[in-house]
Amino acid sequence: MSSIISTFDAVAGGYDSPNMRFFPFAADLLAAKAKIFGRQKILDVAAGTGMVSIAAAQMASTGRVMAIDLSAGMLAKAEVNCRKMALTNIDYFEMDGQDVEFKRNYFDHVLCGFGLFFFSDIQKGLLSWKRVMKPGAKVGFSSFLPSSFSPMAELFITRLQAYGYAKDFEVAQKLDSVEKCEQTLSSAGFENIQISQQSMGYHIATGRDWWDVVWNTALRSLLDNLSDDELERFQVEHMAEVEALAVADGIYLPVDVLFSFAEKPD
Ligand SMILES: C[S@@+](CC[C@H](N)C(=O)[O-])C[C@H]1O[C@@H](n2cnc3c(N)ncnc32)[C@H](O)[C@@H]1O
Repeated sequence: MSSIISTFDAVAGGYDSPNMRFFPFAADLLAAKAKIFGRQKILDVAAGTGMVSIAAAQMASTGRVMAIDLSAGMLAKAEVNCRKMALTNIDYFEMDGQDVEFKRNYFDHVLCGFGLFFFSDIQKGLLSWKRVMKPGAKVGFSSFLPSSFSPMAELFITRLQAYGYAKDFEVAQKLDSVEKCEQTLSSAGFENIQISQQSMGYHIATGRDWWDVVWNTALRSLLDNLSDDELERFQVEHMAEVEALAVADGIYLPVDVLFSFAEKPD
């Protein structure tokens, strides 16, 4: 848990980079698919810099959003982003999404953008969400398909391994297929499961733009063991190999997203 906090506190400053605009795109879509309205109460778990909370708060104009995250750094950015949008219906809490502390049967929606796969105990998290949801309320989360960030992510891991750091970025694999998401939701007792897929990729211009993605996401934590010299060399070599992927429109960054929704039984 402390490594998640230190990772996201470190990336908070650069997380809203335009090179990572798939985060706000996907946040808007997650909130839109939830069909939020009016006076509803929404819990945004792993809220990060507040993209999902902002989209939900705009839809629930007379309702309220509770945004929770483990990282104080991410939440501080979320509060700034919320003020920029002149929204007054979001509250922020440093809280573990695996064990949410709110009233039973309180929320109309629980949403989680690209956060659930970080949990060490996903079932525990989902059961705690279910407890605070009203009967019939909706849960919705986003996760990445394995085609996302390919081949950049593979090049990154292969190079890291060549440096003697035999790591992989396994967390996202926990929810990277329709079957895994379905199984996860049904094991926690949710029903009416609906899962859709959307490609949200785009071209970035340079290898440095991809480095922005590495440096401002959890991928950065895989670089922790490199010395300063190794990191400098790694960055130059990796940016060059990604730059070599460029075609006329730039370097295509594939982002293929699963949106999983379900309901708490009545
Ligand atoms: C990739 S960011 C996603 C942020 C935001 N939801 C979005 O869609 O842009 C993942 C977030 O999950 C948070 N997180 C990871 N594990 C968590 C947990 N157990 N409880 C609460 N937040 C958690 C991290 O601190 C980070 O802010």
